[in-house]
Amino acid sequence: MKILIVGGNGGIGQAMVKQIQVAYPAATLHATYRQNRPTDMQGVVNWHPLDVTSEVEIKQLSEQLTELDWIINCIGILHTQDKGPEKNLQSVDIDFLQHNISLNMLPSVMLAKHFSHALKQSVSARFIVISAKVGSISDNRLGGWYSYRASKAALNMFLKTLSIEWQRTMKHCVVLALHPGTTDTPLSKPFQQSVPKDKLFTPQYVANCLLPIIANATPAQTGSFLAYDGALLPW
Ligand SMILES: NC(=O)c1ccc[n+]([C@@H]2O[C@H](COP(=O)([O-])OP(=O)(O)OC[C@H]3O[C@@H](n4cnc5c(N)ncnc54)[C@H](OP(=O)(O)O)[C@@H]3O)[C@@H](O)[C@H]2O)c1
Repeated sequence: MKILIVGGNGGIGQAMVKQIQVAYPAATLHATYRQNRPTDMQGVVNWHPLDVTSEVEIKQLSEQLTELDWIINCIGILHTQDKGPEKNLQSVDIDFLQHNISLNMLPSVMLAKHFSHALKQSVSARFIVISAKVGSISDNRLGGWYSYRASKAALNMFLKTLSIEWQRTMKHCVVLALHPGTTDTPLSKPFQQSVPKDKLFTPQYVANCLLPIIANATPAQTGSFLAYDGALLPW
């Protein structure tokens, strides 16, 4: 099996890389990082530097990795050093909103576009993206967090649309949006105070939950939005 983890240096991404090495020791594992290549990994990981905002770089990587079974995109942002999720409309900053879209949605579009050929060969193909429940439109009761919510909702719509096209052209490929639950990573750090202890997961726990969901997914499930516990989430 050939697997690509995009954002293998992030909290959840790194845990996925480690868990795949344990669960699938015979797999050929590729992973990308932005600047800092993780050094504490045991086993063989083929690391590739990748700027996920560059279509040129994504295309170049797709020309190197021409056969894959699973692609799992773990890239995402919620805050930057000086900007965070908005409490109200007046706090919305267009540059920050665009930055959210450029990292939470556009990389998945470019990955699907350029790696569809690599997945086409596989009989157990998966195109998986770590989304977020706050991107669900029908589940939105609290409001706020405009940029993150809108970028994840756009991601979700992209994945649903992609799953419909690929049902026609790549029948074997399962497209899923996954919600990891609140996970103890740099992304959630500033927002963990109000999270009950038993609802703040370790990245290892999340990787343990998500991997069987990915492995056992069937083509009938393509275009689904699933939580870490396997629950079906509303778009
Ligand atoms: N943690 C949670 O509670 C939670 C909850 C719901 C959904 N999620 C989703 O889970 C996914 C993984 O998040 P995480 O918790 O693992 O966060 P994380 O530890 O902050 O990892 C985020 C990943 O995105 C990459 N990234 C961030 N900014 C980037 C940029 N400007 N250019 C290129 N790459 C960039 C990071 O690379 P660098 O390390 O190089 O920046 C890292 O690989 C995200 O899509 C997030 O929305 C997380």
